[in-house]
Amino acid sequence: MENQFDVIVIGSGPGGYVAAIRAAQLGFKVACIEKRDTLGGTCLNVGCIPSKALLYSSECVAFAKKGAEQQGLFYTNVSFDFGKMLSRKENIVAGSVKGIESLFKKNNITIIYGAARFISPNELEVLGEKTVILKAKSFVIATGSESIPLPFLPFDENIVLSSTGALNLNKVPKKMVVVGAGVIGVEIASIYNRLGTEIIVVEMLDRICPAMDNAVGKALFQSLKNQGFVFHLSSRVSEAKINKQKVILKVETQNEVLNIEGDILLVAVGRSPYSESLELEKIGVKKTAKGFVEVDSQFRTNLPHIFAIGDLIEGPMLAHRASEEGIVVAEIIKGFKPHINYMAIPNVIYTQPEVAAVGFTEEEARAKGLDLLIGTCSFRANPRARCMGDTEGFIKIIGEKTSNRLIGLHIIGHNASELISEGVIALEKCLTLEDIAHICHAHPTLSEWVKEAALLALGRAINL
Ligand code: NAI
Repeated sequence: MENQFDVIVIGSGPGGYVAAIRAAQLGFKVACIEKRDTLGGTCLNVGCIPSKALLYSSECVAFAKKGAEQQGLFYTNVSFDFGKMLSRKENIVAGSVKGIESLFKKNNITIIYGAARFISPNELEVLGEKTVILKAKSFVIATGSESIPLPFLPFDENIVLSSTGALNLNKVPKKMVVVGAGVIGVEIASIYNRLGTEIIVVEMLDRICPAMDNAVGKALFQSLKNQGFVFHLSSRVSEAKINKQKVILKVETQNEVLNIEGDILLVAVGRSPYSESLELEKIGVKKTAKGFVEVDSQFRTNLPHIFAIGDLIEGPMLAHRASEEGIVVAEIIKGFKPHINYMAIPNVIYTQPEVAAVGFTEEEARAKGLDLLIGTCSFRANPRARCMGDTEGFIKIIGEKTSNRLIGLHIIGHNASELISEGVIALEKCLTLEDIAHICHAHPTLSEWVKEAALLALGRAINL
């Protein structure tokens, strides 16, 4: 029957599209349903990919304005075309969307555009160009998450922006107020700061990017301040209004109450799981108190043929984590017994310097009462970093003393996003600091500082 599938995946983001492809590879007849007009979900359409495209363009501007001089390059009257940056970003997104379409074609996956809702535990109604009823033996829900608004000021995506609106501005704003100094806040503010926008960040906690290792967080905080960010930490927005195309916030800091005005407001206080239109309650799928779909260790909801993955279930909201779960869930449906090591899932913040981490922070490890071996190597002494003239940041390695095993790697500096892979492999393969210290690293590279940090933690650094 045409509308009967083995597996229906709802959502085509990095969780859903990967689940669909893996399920098709395993021989299932697969359909993927997508509410947007394009495949790829938040990550590809309005998140990771467009933000990284604009981050790169703005980095080039920052280099031309500042970093180039020390290389003996002088750009005079640096100017840029924001419209061109936006169209470059759109082209990258469009190319990636096409890429997923062709992967679906190659794997014989049926794409159905429209909003899905369960009308029975085994049937979906999809409201697209025409309404269709689809049946499947198994369902994978991968509908992701949405930005959380301020309770008293909804998004209008004109002045009050979520990340989606902030990546689609038609001009560079003069003054941007950011609420929430998490990953989205610091990444998007970095784009506009480099393009000349005045940035004011209001953060509820006494630190930025709270999940980061403290030492790394402090270094990033200082670096962003040096780049011109103004931070109000331990501060909360108690009122907000829009007046004459400006946003005006009442901000209660620790010592005073401030009125802060901006051309636009980016609200980046977190994301919440999104499954509203699916009508899961009607078929009895359970959710947690925080609104996440409840699953067991095999991603099964309380209805055993319905699975959920990615931002919709508890855990770090990361595209690559969703993709891992996409692969694993398809294999579980097939009857395999795969496993994800959540400890070895990396985290990256694409600021300048970049930040990347895997495993425990020092604070988490100490809270567990572990005895630690720690080595912190500044890039100031790293030959490659010195050749590039980019010596900001450090590598911090954390081992557990008794076993000597690596339990955390934290990097702030040039290309941290790429360097972190070594820590991911080492954690995945349960390597010790001794193992890392024995591995030959090319010279001169930034990565040899991972080895040096391991040597330092073991008390026998060569170069420091
Ligand atoms: P987040 O959880 O990273 O940060 C939110 C920040 O807002 C926190 O520092 C929190 O203390 C603060 N906050 C919360 N309520 C507040 C209030 N009322 N006033 C002031 N501050 C407040 O959330 P974010 O940045 O919105 O990102 C959402 C998700 O998207 C995260 O899970 C993140 O990991 C993911 N993401 C990942 C990226 C990456 O991997 N590079 C890039 C962008 C997003």
